[in-house]
Amino acid sequence: MVETHSREAPGTNGTVDDERPRLLRLKSLLNEWELDAEAAHLAYTTNTPRGPITNLKGLDRELGGALAPGLHVVHASPGVGKTAFCLQVAATSPFPALYLTCEMAPLELFRRHPARVTSTYLGRLKSGEFDPAYSVGLARQAAAAAPRLAFGDATHAFAPPDWLQKAAVAVKGDASHILIVVDSVHSWAEAAPTDVDEYTALNDGLAALRRIARNLICPVLAIAERNRAKMSAGGLDASAGSRRFEYGAESVLALNREKDEGADGEAKVTLTIEKNRNGAAGKRLPLLFNGALQRFTEP
Ligand SMILES: Nc1ncnc2c1ncn2[C@@H]1O[C@H](COP(=O)(O)OP(=O)(O)OP(=O)(O)O)[C@@H](O)[C@H]1O
Ligand SMILES: [Mg+2]
Repeated sequence: MVETHSREAPGTNGTVDDERPRLLRLKSLLNEWELDAEAAHLAYTTNTPRGPITNLKGLDRELGGALAPGLHVVHASPGVGKTAFCLQVAATSPFPALYLTCEMAPLELFRRHPARVTSTYLGRLKSGEFDPAYSVGLARQAAAAAPRLAFGDATHAFAPPDWLQKAAVAVKGDASHILIVVDSVHSWAEAAPTDVDEYTALNDGLAALRRIARNLICPVLAIAERNRAKMSAGGLDASAGSRRFEYGAESVLALNREKDEGADGEAKVTLTIEKNRNGAAGKRLPLLFNGALQRFTEP
């Protein structure tokens, strides 16, 4: 006979490490239901988010109030602002966030953050025109504005899934939630030291991210490259290399640049919710992207 067991409620660090399958009668889910209902009610009555949010009000509303635990795929053509978008979400999150960077060096990624926080043009932070003490002051101010944001640097070495999970647990500390960003899933998964083909590497990587999201009960913002056929049009199936991106995801968010920067420095970008397990899909939200300040806003 198969043993019926109920899984422990998440521990104080909010992790569920039991990887065994579970056989459940509905009654045995009541404990979990109660914990969930209490958390939902507390968030509702105190008007606080139930988990990490994007801080873009229209998007958070469409996604059910917060980023649900699981994968949230963000895809766009090169240079449209995937990194800027996800860094802003991680940096403004009301909970700790771990940003795994697999392409951009941590210092370059960091530079984008004071651009947004201190409204200093990114180009000026790079040009050398600032006195170093002033430049460090801007960086210090920006670091203080996001004390719970940490970078994982996988630009020189592959970050194995268990490293990523342990790093996320450390960053989370005793907070109730954590957000993980992987920039990008393609560059991360393809750096894995195996000789499997790209398709298998991507599927293994996506499975590992889903497992981490489940173990830590947290959302993972997964940046995806687009395939050639859907490069400019986007769409649900625009992630390159594997359909597991759209099948396994809680949501799929597509960024499309409609109009380049005007005199005000703002480019028009449409965010389309291609898939949404927690609300209606197909919604198109107009956004403005200021590239020089690395800032997305709702018009
Ligand atoms: N110094 C700058 N001044 C103005 N705009 C800039 C500057 N640096 C970057 N940008 C803007 O930011 C965009 C790049 O944003 P971001 O790196 O987030 O895009 P991405 O989608 O992540 O790109 P990739 O596909 O290379 O990862 C550029 O296309 C440009 O519009
Ligand atoms: Mg990028």
